[in-house]
Amino acid sequence: MIKPNLLKVTIDDLDNINNVQKNMFGDDALKKDIVESLVLGGLFLKLDSYNENNKLIGFIAIGLTGELIYPKIYSLAIISKYRNTGYGSYLLKSALKKLPEYLKLVDNDDEYYKFDKIALYVRKNNQNALKFFMKFDFEIISKEENYYSNGEAAYYMEKTILNKIS
Ligand SMILES: CC(C)(COP(=O)(O)OP(=O)(O)OC[C@H]1O[C@@H](n2cnc3c(N)ncnc32)[C@H](O)[C@@H]1OP(=O)(O)O)[C@@H](O)C(=O)NCCC(=O)NCCS
Repeated sequence: MIKPNLLKVTIDDLDNINNVQKNMFGDDALKKDIVESLVLGGLFLKLDSYNENNKLIGFIAIGLTGELIYPKIYSLAIISKYRNTGYGSYLLKSALKKLPEYLKLVDNDDEYYKFDKIALYVRKNNQNALKFFMKFDFEIISKEENYYSNGEAAYYMEKTILNKIS
């Protein structure tokens, strides 16, 4: 892996991110308004390639949702030609490092904040992603049938995180 540029996703990236989402996830791509709200209020990071004119390598979007009690990884994607060479790991690790700061900002507590886990949904048949998340100590908590537009089930996964700024 050639070290990439880690940057915050901004409104200027919206079209590009929405196109990648649509190509990669089809009918299950995040809706444009959700992508925009994550850019404005979430922890949304991207990797650009130094070598290829700042070409997008991948992105991760973390946010808080009414639906869950924990912050959630809404989307994590590495463009296919860059996969399986460490970029996904680098991006997830970088986001997890920045997470306490982000959670402190939204939780507004002095020292501890109430979130001690991070959650996500992943396709039951997405073996690469399951292996990837398990490597980072995400655990399967439950299975949700018919989660995706084609009727496929999802695994709901959680990982324990530090709930204090160290
Ligand atoms: C899942 C994804 C983000 C992983 O990113 P990546 O850059 O390819 O992953 P890394 O190179 O950092 O790999 C880390 C680990 O993930 C697992 N993994 C990743 N790609 C794999 C593959 N093709 N086959 C088997 N295991 C794989 C391995 O455990 C690997 O560790 P190892 O190299 O020690 O074996 C990427 O494959 C992707 O964007 N997939 C499509 C979108 C998606 O599925 N997103 C997640 C949905 S929630």
